[in-house]
Amino acid sequence: MGVAVEVSGLTKSFGSQNIWSDVTLTLPPGEISVLLGPSGTGKSVFLKSLVGLLKPERGSIVISDTDIVTCREHRLYEVRKLFGVLFQDGALFGSMNLFDNIAFPLREHTKKSESEIRRIVLEKMDMVGLQGAEGKLPGEISGGMRKRAGLARALVLDPEIILFDEPDSGLDPVRVAYLNQLIVDLNAQIDATFLIVTHDIGTARTVPDNLGLLFRRHLAMFGPREQLLTSQEPVVRQFLNGRREGPIGMSEEKDVAQVEAEMAALEARGGDQHNGIGPKGASGGDAVPPQLDPSPGLPERQAVRRRQERVARMLHEFDPATAEAIRASLPHDLLAQADAGAFTPTAAAGGRHWAPGPDAVPAGSAATAVLPRSAGEP
Ligand SMILES: Nc1ncnc2c1ncn2[C@@H]1O[C@H](COP(=O)(O)OP(=O)(O)OP(=O)(O)O)[C@@H](O)[C@H]1O
Ligand SMILES: [Mg+2]
Repeated sequence: MGVAVEVSGLTKSFGSQNIWSDVTLTLPPGEISVLLGPSGTGKSVFLKSLVGLLKPERGSIVISDTDIVTCREHRLYEVRKLFGVLFQDGALFGSMNLFDNIAFPLREHTKKSESEIRRIVLEKMDMVGLQGAEGKLPGEISGGMRKRAGLARALVLDPEIILFDEPDSGLDPVRVAYLNQLIVDLNAQIDATFLIVTHDIGTARTVPDNLGLLFRRHLAMFGPREQLLTSQEPVVRQFLNGRREGPIGMSEEKDVAQVEAEMAALEARGGDQHNGIGPKGASGGDAVPPQLDPSPGLPERQAVRRRQERVARMLHEFDPATAEAIRASLPHDLLAQADAGAFTPTAAAGGRHWAPGPDAVPAGSAATAVLPRSAGEP
């Protein structure tokens, strides 16, 4: 099972430029989370902070009992081995063929024999649909193939946490659909913890268990997918509907009067239901579409049941629309337990409002907790 990533009060600046402050969230083990946010809000900086490539000035990132913000270099080196990272541009070595690119982490970090390396590389290439392309150079293949090669490389060390930085950018819509299925299938096969940064709203609506949004140097919201998909928070609705009207401006913040005028005009046209189709898979409306299932023949995602138990314990946290959407996704046994008051809300440490059952996680730890934040919360 993947490991939890527990981020608390994280703040990152470059010189006097603050990128984001006080980011608190937990990536529950084995679950898929998506992080959204306007360009330049620091999503890539966040991913690089999680792997320890950038150092935040405040806060903690706890992975397997290690705070990687403050730990020593050799410990960070060990924790990094838990990660597979697909960088925004694939980041392949241009002079190496795909086989050598994908084999690189194995040759660098393990003492495996060449025959063992060959077996692993071919297995991962098969997994991402690149069989037969071993001898190709990155410059000789399409952008989509480069992404998948980057993904194969991210997988060779059997990571427990995988970070994807815009895996779908530059892909056609059908390939995005295939990639999304591949991500869900991978999660079912390896049960690792996934965090995906994307601008594709279709992906955000259908792939993850949890959704978050970075906006104006803060994590505006992070929680179960139903929480954001049913949210009335103006910035969340604007982003998920891919529209101009709302608080997010082209380059700078809009004033309140302008946002109000825009929203009135939008309502007069019928609101989001009749907003047409926004770019990047934005579908309009606020329905919670079904989540993608693994392909036939693959195992169930083990995270599904864990997540159901987790969100059943959180039902009391949410407004009625979110709670209803979550209830609709839960099996009868859990719903009955929740309604019978089996899940006591606990005042867990660090401002996380609930904790998993006492038998799930050692006392004092809130390793699988997610703190749903509302935009106005400090
Ligand atoms: N190494 C660095 N030194 C200084 N500033 C940086 C560095 N890396 C990123 N930044 C700044 O941090 C901000 C956030 O950048 P980041 O790449 O994380 O945005 P993003 O949310 O990933 O955007 P996009 O959606 O366009 O990929 C930008 O203003 C960028 O200029
Ligand atoms: Mg980025």
